[in-house]
Amino acid sequence: MPHNALYSKEEIEKQVDVLARRIAKDVGQSPTILVGLLNGSVVFLSDLMRRLYLYGVAPEVDFMVVSSYKDGHSSNGTIDIIQDIRSSIEGKTVIVIDDIADTGLTLLEVKKALAKRNPAKLLTCVLLDKPSRRKFDVKPDYTAFTIDNVFVVGYGLDSASRFRYLPYIAVLSE
Ligand code: XMP
Repeated sequence: MPHNALYSKEEIEKQVDVLARRIAKDVGQSPTILVGLLNGSVVFLSDLMRRLYLYGVAPEVDFMVVSSYKDGHSSNGTIDIIQDIRSSIEGKTVIVIDDIADTGLTLLEVKKALAKRNPAKLLTCVLLDKPSRRKFDVKPDYTAFTIDNVFVVGYGLDSASRFRYLPYIAVLSE
């Protein structure tokens, strides 16, 4: 078990609340859809959407599965959309929700793909950001925690499909 808790359940709850307030203030009553990237965002998204509702936002929710391919050491890469959203995003405020921004490839490419579908506004929100690892030019609009270059698990994040269920975020020490 990873025991090095980086952020406790309580700290995460507090930060999700702070984010939900900020997002609610920014999106107001505009039609809003959360697009969660599976599997990593599932715990974060389910807490965030209920917090948003508390602050007056009633978002639609849909999910995407993508896999990314990085091109060696260069800043090139691509993603495959394995499973697309079924909702239309035209004219809506879209908030892409992911677990972590690492090189930035996933967020950048998902943004490019969704931008073609005429959303009113296209925003990104991550639980964790590792800016020291960035290779692609993208900055999440909302970040709960900024971390160093460590491998973390829990609260949706996994290592070989383990630890997603942990209620806290831990540094994997194996
Ligand atoms: P990119 O490079 O596209 O990658 O920004 C985002 C994806 O990388 C995975 N990732 C991690 N997963 N602990 C994890 O469990 C980590 O510390 C970590 N760092 C990157 C994750 O799948 C994320 O969606």
